[in-house]
Amino acid sequence: MTNKEARLEEVRQFLPQWLEESRKEAASGEVASYIPELSKASHTALGIHLLDIQGDSASAGDCGMSFTLQSISKVFTLILALIDNGEDAVFERVGMEPTGDNFNSMLKLELVRPGIPFNPLINAGAITISSMIKGATPEEKSARILDFFRRLSGGSPLKVNEAVYRSEFETGNLNRSIAYFLVENGVLNGSVEEVLSIYFRHCSIEATCRDLARMALILAGDGTDPLSGENLIPRRYVQIAKTFMITCGMYNASGEFAIKAGLPAKSGVSGGILTFVPGALGIGVVGPALNAKGNSSAGVHLIERLSQRMDWSLF
Ligand code: DON
Repeated sequence: MTNKEARLEEVRQFLPQWLEESRKEAASGEVASYIPELSKASHTALGIHLLDIQGDSASAGDCGMSFTLQSISKVFTLILALIDNGEDAVFERVGMEPTGDNFNSMLKLELVRPGIPFNPLINAGAITISSMIKGATPEEKSARILDFFRRLSGGSPLKVNEAVYRSEFETGNLNRSIAYFLVENGVLNGSVEEVLSIYFRHCSIEATCRDLARMALILAGDGTDPLSGENLIPRRYVQIAKTFMITCGMYNASGEFAIKAGLPAKSGVSGGILTFVPGALGIGVVGPALNAKGNSSAGVHLIERLSQRMDWSLF
């Protein structure tokens, strides 16, 4: 244990009550429907799992529910691209700055350094990162991503939700236009459809809150699995990922989340949030109803409350 105590005993006492109170926030949110398959998720579901570096856990609500990682996957494909290519090669193609725009916006792609995505967590950046994963074929690249995610989740049999994948592939015209723009500007090489198949596949990997907490625990351990002692990610790459999670992980609500929760986090449009207390514990949350910024309404509320009550903020 380093700077922050996990104090799961205390969390366990209050968690069910806090979760039910946060669940009410779902009423003000909307389940994502631009990927039609996602609109089937329960509006009022809310689940959480916390896992500390001793292996103790606490959970509440709909924590057994499966959901797709969506943008949460972008943190880990970034890390794999860094492992595959090194820091210099990755940052030749993507920037390090927040946009203040929506995750699928093309606005700044044209305005500032044409074709260079602002950061690896917006869609333009994540599509570029997908193209940098090593492998002889798109299938091999997707298999390497899945294998990496499984290792980070402690061997969980994660798999792609094929219905969500097809739904994204069939309706992802905005992502297609972003990818063509990237090709036109020489940032993306190769076939747009092949790169998008890799990107949509990693967004469609299905997990539970426990899987998110387990993956987050590796980040909490600076790349070393606190439960097995195995080093899975170089510490420097966790440092990079963690910084992006603070500055861009909750999109254009990252500043507010840093003030209210003070934890590195990444959200996805399925309503998942992965967050962690460095040196102490990993947390996975799901609540499909999203607020106006595209983050889980109830999930954000629950994490902010937990962090404030437990004094987990890094700042
Ligand atoms: O490309 C998309 O739009 C989705 N596969 C991922 C977007 C996402 O999760 C943004 N998160 N808030």
